[in-house]
Amino acid sequence: MNVETDRVKIELGERSYDILIGANLLSDRASVDGLPAGNAAVIVTNPTVAPLYALRLQNLLKQRHAQCLMVELPDGEIHKDWSSLERIFGALLRAGADRKTVLYALGGGVVGDVTGFAAACYMRGVPFVQVPTTLLAQVDSSVGGKTAVNHPLGKNMIGAFYQPLRVIADLDTLDTLPDREISAGLAEVIKYGPIADDAFLGWIEDNLDALLARDKKVLAYAVKRSCEIKAWVVGQDERESGLRAILNFGHTFGHAIEAGLGFGTWLHGEGVGCGMVMAADLSHRLGLIDAAYAQRITRLIERAGLPIRGPQLGADRYLELMRGDKKSEAGEIRFVVIEAPGRAALRPAPDDIVREVLAAHAA
Ligand code: NAD
Ligand code: GLY
Repeated sequence: MNVETDRVKIELGERSYDILIGANLLSDRASVDGLPAGNAAVIVTNPTVAPLYALRLQNLLKQRHAQCLMVELPDGEIHKDWSSLERIFGALLRAGADRKTVLYALGGGVVGDVTGFAAACYMRGVPFVQVPTTLLAQVDSSVGGKTAVNHPLGKNMIGAFYQPLRVIADLDTLDTLPDREISAGLAEVIKYGPIADDAFLGWIEDNLDALLARDKKVLAYAVKRSCEIKAWVVGQDERESGLRAILNFGHTFGHAIEAGLGFGTWLHGEGVGCGMVMAADLSHRLGLIDAAYAQRITRLIERAGLPIRGPQLGADRYLELMRGDKKSEAGEIRFVVIEAPGRAALRPAPDDIVREVLAAHAA
């Protein structure tokens, strides 16, 4: 099936860059045209993705770089940590990588977040390119320059804002993704509707079956529209001093689920999906949206194959974990709530209402 390559631009002055979205991009020289051709390129990936796609990327890069190295990180959210960073730094130092070395993050959000953080730190900053291979990474994590590793006490707690030079989202890589990962990616696609574009929410409802069936043209539009919305938000608030927080709809509850169960037990997108059910209900209980809109969001999340009931961590534990969220201020949790269809804001909420939400959707 023919899918035209789309280009979405992130406008950040001298840090502006393009997101390329299309089929067969990993075999197309044009995907890397204009990127620096320093001495060395280093592909950071993992043992799941490497056998599938590393050779294609290596072939593209060999024409531009005298050296093309590969670093494999162990796969999984549990490895989004210091030891993976050390592995990258060790490989770079042993190879004598200089400041012109370009890092390529080939994989999902875990590889992308860790590689981006390594690029921000190595020699105080070397260029990097995101090559996202999961739906979640193509619609969200590869875009916008948030990089991080987890700490046992909290998700994404150690990191930096550091923008890539380009994002190359080859839709063909989604062919090999397990169904569970497609659903996880859909959570982040769905999020853009209630927070920024109610018409997009309707489009997702109408096209969900085609998305689940991986129809390329439909996936291409979902990735493009998601990236456009993210570009619009990040272009106004790169370092999350305000607006950007809306991209965290469902994440306050979701991160608590991920950390509370132990990283990797639930996928990030599963936590976000269930977290959006809770955050939508919270928005309703705060009198911001009617029950029907919260129900509409819940129904879509369920249809996408995502969990809509949270694990039984206990309300006290949920609250303790959420107080540690990066959006909290002086121990007061601030939630992304839906103020009206297609519009979100950051607000505190009384503990007793949060407890009602948890009683209704978890325990
Ligand atoms: P992931 O990186 O763990 O990838 C999911 C699984 O799919 C892994 O096992 C991976 O090896 C495998 N995989 C990747 N591409 C594949 C392919 N094409 N075919 C087959 N298997 C493939 O998870 P994810 O959902 O991509 O990313 C989640 C991470 O992203 C979380 O750590 C989350 O915090 C982070 N995130 C960051 C941002 C940001 O703005 N930086 C935004 C959202 C999420
Ligand atoms: N995924 C949230 C953000 O990029 O801000």
